[in-house]
Amino acid sequence: MKTALITGITGQDGSFLAELLLKKNYFVHGLIRRSAELNTFRLEKIFNHENLKLHYGDLTDSICLEQIVSEVAPDEVYNLAAQSHVKVSFEIPEITATIGALGVLKLLEIIRKKDHRIKLYQASTSELYGKVVEEKQSEETIFHPRSPYGVAKLYAYWIIKNYREAYNVFACNGILFNHESERRGFNFVSRKITIGLSRIKLGYQSVLEVGNLNAKRDWGYAKEYVEAMHLMLQQEKPKDYVIATGEAHSIRDFIELAGEELGMEITWQGEGLKEVGVDKKTGKTVVKVNEKYFRPAEVDFLLGDSSLAKKELKWEAKTKLNDLVKIMVKADYESLKKNQGKFFY
Ligand code: NAP
Ligand code: GDD
Repeated sequence: MKTALITGITGQDGSFLAELLLKKNYFVHGLIRRSAELNTFRLEKIFNHENLKLHYGDLTDSICLEQIVSEVAPDEVYNLAAQSHVKVSFEIPEITATIGALGVLKLLEIIRKKDHRIKLYQASTSELYGKVVEEKQSEETIFHPRSPYGVAKLYAYWIIKNYREAYNVFACNGILFNHESERRGFNFVSRKITIGLSRIKLGYQSVLEVGNLNAKRDWGYAKEYVEAMHLMLQQEKPKDYVIATGEAHSIRDFIELAGEELGMEITWQGEGLKEVGVDKKTGKTVVKVNEKYFRPAEVDFLLGDSSLAKKELKWEAKTKLNDLVKIMVKADYESLKKNQGKFFY
């Protein structure tokens, strides 16, 4: 039986990855932070699984990391822990860097000193491309991050490459483009839209306020993206791979599609901060723009080229935006209906 350690197991990706590895008969160890409230709701399905063990710890605490790695002797470590919200990273840049940049260095050092056989996956990101210089971004595209989050992840990306070259550590950067799901954090735009419009449809909210409607993202389904993480660590040689759908859509498109799923027909009126989304069927304004959601520097456009992953990992995105929106709206609408507009996972 293989053993894996997942940092960030309580997050969207960590929970899907843990389920995937348990299905593959791994023993899964997860690092969890102590918090005032229980934050293990995404692990509900597997919480009592006999091959799952959770360890209190923190990616900023070398002592606990060394202890846990010694104790569990993992074959594979998946480093998913991060302060992962781009806008929030402008408000808390130092802790974003401490976790996002230096966290993985701690893991690399432990592997270098203790056990070279441990394979390491690093949750890298399309935010590295930031102000993009190519229409489609691949493993060869130059980086230009646009946020403290992106800059922190840039250090992590290079330190992975550096330990691979300098010490022959088996470490991979998965350069994942945006991926969403019914487990996505509530303040990422996709989930904010599917929750907000569902509550409007059910009569618990009147308007959804968002920021930049024109940014475009390459959105895939998180459940499929964790499969790519696992595949990277099963290759003969460690490498970095772009994981994406190859389609870009705007926030506006996402809102229209989610509205459609809920029986709305959202059309746009006005410009800039005065722009609104009106449901043609009811004549009501359901979407407004609020500048508080704008970022000091924006990533306008992301579109990934995952040809290398297709060729070498035999991985390809199956769920495109239409289906992703359907999955998310269905889950949120049903749950909000059942819980009278209150959100429980
Ligand atoms: P997420 O839902 O925000 O989960 C982040 C996880 O990191 C949570 O489990 C969180 O624990 C944990 N964490 C934060 N700070 C920590 C610390 N100091 N020590 C230990 N754990 C800590 O993020 P996600 O969407 O699953 O993404 C997973 C990873 O992939 C992140 O590194 C993210 O930056 C990266 N990524 C995500 C995407 C995407 O579109 N989802 C794309 C590219 C890359 P708590 O529950 O205690 O907060
Ligand atoms: N969060 C948020 N909230 N974003 C909004 C809103 C809003 O109300 N209105 C518009 N947006 C725009 C943002 O300005 C951005 O251009 C886009 O929607 C996507 O924002 P997020 O969903 O917050 O995701 P992100 O692209 O910034 O970052 C996510 O993807 C990265 C990969 O590219 C995160 O998961 C990162 O951790 C990940 O690395």
